[in-house]
Amino acid sequence: MIDGLRRLEYRGYDSAGVALVAPGAPLSSAKKAGKLVNLVTELEENPLPPATAAIGHTRWATHGAPNDLNAHPHLADGGQLAVIHNGIVENFAVLKKELLADGVTFLSETDTEVAAHLLAKEHAATGDLTEAMRRVALRLEGTFTLLAVHADQPDTVVGARHDSPLVVGLGEGENFLGSDVAAFIAYTREALELDQDQIVTITADKVSVIDFAGEPVEPRRFTVDWDAEAAEKGGFASFMDKEIHDQPQAVGDTLLGRTDIDGRLILDDLRIDEAVLRSVDKIIVIACGTAAYAGHVAKYAIEHWCRIPVEVELAHEFRYRDPVVNEKTLVVAVTQSGETMDTLMAVRHAREQGAKVVSIVNTHGSTIPRESDAVLYTHAGPEIAVASTKAFLSQITAAYLLGLYLAQLRGNKFPDEIAEIFDDLKAMPAKIQEVIDRGGRVREIARWMSDTSSVLFLGRHVGFPVAMEGALKLKELAYIHAEGFAAGELKHGPIALIEPGQPVFVIVPSPRGRDSLHSKVISNIQEIRARGARTLVIAEDGDDAVLPFADEVFWVPQSPTLLAPLLTVVPLQIFACELATARGLDVDQPRNLAKSVTVE
Ligand code: M6R
Repeated sequence: MIDGLRRLEYRGYDSAGVALVAPGAPLSSAKKAGKLVNLVTELEENPLPPATAAIGHTRWATHGAPNDLNAHPHLADGGQLAVIHNGIVENFAVLKKELLADGVTFLSETDTEVAAHLLAKEHAATGDLTEAMRRVALRLEGTFTLLAVHADQPDTVVGARHDSPLVVGLGEGENFLGSDVAAFIAYTREALELDQDQIVTITADKVSVIDFAGEPVEPRRFTVDWDAEAAEKGGFASFMDKEIHDQPQAVGDTLLGRTDIDGRLILDDLRIDEAVLRSVDKIIVIACGTAAYAGHVAKYAIEHWCRIPVEVELAHEFRYRDPVVNEKTLVVAVTQSGETMDTLMAVRHAREQGAKVVSIVNTHGSTIPRESDAVLYTHAGPEIAVASTKAFLSQITAAYLLGLYLAQLRGNKFPDEIAEIFDDLKAMPAKIQEVIDRGGRVREIARWMSDTSSVLFLGRHVGFPVAMEGALKLKELAYIHAEGFAAGELKHGPIALIEPGQPVFVIVPSPRGRDSLHSKVISNIQEIRARGARTLVIAEDGDDAVLPFADEVFWVPQSPTLLAPLLTVVPLQIFACELATARGLDVDQPRNLAKSVTVE
């Protein structure tokens, strides 16, 4: 159980807990606030007895502070029933009132405890944990994955799923449930996808699934395409460092198998009628955080190649602003986890309005691809560090493939033009490797700057989303003020922030790219330098024009303008990772965050 929780801890680390059952024994449990290591210490000091079935949880707090009492599992039925929960029970206040009136005593401030006591009530009425869970699931509003064990059924774990992730791992003489396959990857790669609104019951040698109406259902089986080793640090100091080094392979793997024998692009996991794709008159990219910045980068390329207007919208803003979406709109949902609740809700809204949805997803067996009309998988492998790195690069790559495919289908580009861009893309993994190999100087500067209190990032064109991503990495990892600006916007206000010594990263576009873009950014560097900024410039090999205005230059190999983000973001990832490490912070699990944000 602890091993599984360790692999899932990246999803939330405010507290951790376990509950165990064994034949003829009372239920036993332990829980501790803080990271999993606190629970491990507690269990070393006070070991629990052997068990036949167990549930365990790492928490990202929503209702109630991250303390011992609010940690999961929550117990009911005199301590003989235990429940863990992901999501939010939105009607918990009404249900709590009802339970209080029945004389139930609550020990925590969580919404989850309501589910535990309701389950105990239904279990007492039915004598069966599966049926009790089904009845409870019908009463809960909001989002939930619930797992429960009861001392009376020591061979059984029961789960319920409604808009929150849950997958089944199929072992030999053992079965597993997890928020994602990482939980059981060390034991089996064979898995079952559950759908929404289903109840699953597992024992050591049986898995049965019913829907909320009680009807049996046959879940889809799949094999996970990575193994436990891919989810280990492999000798790196942190998962983030490892994942930065995984990036050449992540991009290369995302490009694999995408052409037919005539060299034409094929996206065989794209299941939307070609006529529909030809009639698309607008693309809306929906995503959050880093994935949204990948969408911003993609906008420049897709508009340029396909001549289709592309909007990029934060998923949580999308459905609340009554967006203009119809059958001619193609919505592209970008998500590493495939579980981000904001993105899932935006996908549903888009489809209700008649739009077709293509999702760009890294995690097989996740919810968003199943609810999309088509999927383009990135092949980045498991991303464990909370801060996204290789997912970002592979999302840009996949979005570019989609753009080129649309350009091919709609005749916006000749086949030889598409082949040329595709060849440029195939050259990127080696160039990304070169940027990583040159990372020593960035690390050195990051360590020198470990006590800095603010860093600004400037970029133009595709460099603009890269600047925002560089700032996000620094904020989330090092907890210091960081902001990304469009370099041209500076003079409209933010330049007031520049004072002597203010460090500013500037992403300089290729001098071989669009006329004047390069010289405009050089002017922007001069403007901030004249006001005392310390300029840290990311520029292409051979671009000597930056030298007079740069306090430091981080060189990247030459590449076409639109592909440059795959290179220019890498020094910024390394910078944030190293600076946060120098400040003594945990770069894999930054404070207050969780890897998959499965609540709205
Ligand atoms: O799993 P998703 O790609 O949907 O996650 C979206 C964001 O939460 C995520 O990109 C987040 O901003 C990054 N982990 C930050 O590094």
